[in-house]
This record gives sequence, structure tokens and C-alpha cells, in this order.
Amino acid sequence: MEVLRFERVSVRFETGGLFRRRAFWAVREVSFWVGEGETVALLGESGSGKSTLGRLAVRLLRPTEGRVLFRGRDAFSYGKEYTRRVSMVFQDPAASLNPRYTVWEAVEEPLLVHGFPKPQRVERVSRVLRWAKVDESLWRRKTASLSGGQKQRVAIARALVLEPELLVADEPTSALDLSVQYGILKLFESLKGRLSTLFITHDLRLAAKLADRVVLLLAGRVLEVSPAREFVRSPLHPYGVFLLESLPAKSPFERRDAPAAKEPRTLRDDGCPFRAACPHYRPECEVFPPPVEVGNRLVFCHLYSDRRVVE
Ligand SMILES: Nc1ncnc2c1ncn2[C@@H]1O[C@H](COP(=O)(O)OP(=O)(O)OP(=O)(O)O)[C@@H](O)[C@H]1O
Ligand SMILES: [Mg+2]
Repeated sequence: MEVLRFERVSVRFETGGLFRRRAFWAVREVSFWVGEGETVALLGESGSGKSTLGRLAVRLLRPTEGRVLFRGRDAFSYGKEYTRRVSMVFQDPAASLNPRYTVWEAVEEPLLVHGFPKPQRVERVSRVLRWAKVDESLWRRKTASLSGGQKQRVAIARALVLEPELLVADEPTSALDLSVQYGILKLFESLKGRLSTLFITHDLRLAAKLADRVVLLLAGRVLEVSPAREFVRSPLHPYGVFLLESLPAKSPFERRDAPAAKEPRTLRDDGCPFRAACPHYRPECEVFPPPVEVGNRLVFCHLYSDRRVVE
């Protein structure tokens, strides 16, 4: 069963000054889906459009073109219940928590908004805080007084307290100290298979560790959609190969940032965004290719254009 689907989604922002307005496509014709209980990693460098897609999933943003479907229906056709069924964890936990709230209030608030009676609120808040390993001694403290790692645990508890069907996590560990990242990742690991998750990261190893499938993004374009294991073993897209080859040999939990290698020069036009740096460049790359099915994987690259084209 499919929970979330992006259907040829594009988002355009107007940039520039008063007189020289310019259209900027943050994401272009993005299509992929997240299945029931599945964790899908959105993998891409800074500016590739990851947060834009995350914000679309939780309706903080509307697509300029295309549709975002939740359980087969346009996300915007749902009412307030959408916020109960889909929730988000942000990169910066401080920004997502009201500093005046106590830990308990922060986690209880979504239940109040959705009209849960007191006994159920007490039961759910204490259960989710225990699960997130937030020590009981902190429950009456203001969120502002917590450390970054504790704040993120509270933010995760808050995102899960309504028992959503889909969780969007936008780089939930990258603003945290290395020493606390591991614990937060353990929480996400323990969620695997229990709810559908869109996990946003720029770290290939993290994507491989946590996700069932990987959606590789560059400059707003999806370049590949593959099962995570196969992707890290042998990416199909030359940009994926580039990422893999730029990885230093380290464990995902030892690293704060993804590839230290220099970022490739990317192009945002009608062609493949990787073509300027691609060792397989050919003239066809001036036009962005249609998806090609390679087994259970999808790749958007002219290298594979002798194979069967989807759509
Ligand atoms: N509201 C906006 N107005 C104009 N441009 C925007 C807006 N939001 C995002 N962008 C641009 O769209 C592109 C994609 O942004 P997005 O935040 O989705 O990238 P990202 O992959 O999440 O990057 P990062 O890893 O740095 O968080 C970027 O070039 C960004 O500058
Ligand atoms: Mg982002």
C-alpha cells in the first residue's frame, strides 16, 4: 500500500529584486512514493530540494505543478486530520519547540489540539516520553533549558504522540553534536517498519543504514530511485557513483557531515544537472532523460536509454 506519492511535482520560487524577477525551480517533475511501513531516504547535497519536498509532504508548501497524494488523495483535500496523520521533525529542535512550554506541555499540545481526553493524554505523553528516553526528571522543565539532544528527543516525541501514519524527518541529527547523534539515530532505527518515514539526509551512509529505498536528488531533479542496499553497493547514476567514490571509509555514526569531497558543478536547466561533471557526458544530456527501469530500480540517465523507458 502506498502512503505518500509525489506525482510530477515542481516548485517554482520567484527570486531576484523588484525589476529583475527570475523563476527558480527548487524541484522539477519529482515523482516517487513511500509505501506502508517503508523508510525512504531523500538523499542530496545542500540546495538539492530535500526540505522543499519535506515541506510539501506536510503541506507547508503547495506544488506549483503536479500533485502530492496521501493515500491516493490530494494532500490538500484533507482537513485538520492531516496534521494528525502526517508529522514532521525538523533539523533544528530549538526552532520547533516553544521555549516557554515544559517538556510535558510540548508533547501534550498536539493531543489537546485534536481533543484527546485527559486520561488518554497522560497515558500517551508519558509513554512516548519514556520511549524517547527523556528522563522523567525533565518532564516539568522548560524546553529552553534542555540540551540539543534532549530537545530533539522531545521534538520526536511530539511528532509521534498522535501516532501518525507518516513521519517526515528533515536532517534530524545534522544540527546536533556528534556525541548525541547516535542516540537519536537509534530512535529512528527502532521506528523502522513501524510507520512510513521520509528521512531527509545529505549523508549517503545514513541513508543506506536507515532506509529501505533511496531517492537521489540533485539540483531539484530525481536521478535515481533504488533499494538502499543496492544503491550503496552499486549506484546506477554517475552522480551516485561520484558520491560513493567520494566517501571516506568511516562508520555513519562517526561522521557529522557527508562526503568531504568537493561538490560537483551542477546545472539548473532543461538538461541533466550532473552533465558538467559527468565522465559519460554525451549531447543527449542537454535534455533531461525520461526514467528508465533497471530491474526494480529507476534511473534518469541516457547511459541506460537502450533499456526500457517507463511511462
Ligand atoms: N522560499 C524560498 N524562496 C526562494 N528560494 C527558495 C525558497 N526555499 C528554498 N529555496 C531554494 O530552493 C532550493 C532548494 O532548497 P531546499 O531547502 O529544498 O534544499 P535542501 O536540499 O533542503 O538544502 P539543505 O541541505 O541546505 O537544507 C535552494 O536553492 C533554495 O535556495
Ligand atoms: Mg534542507
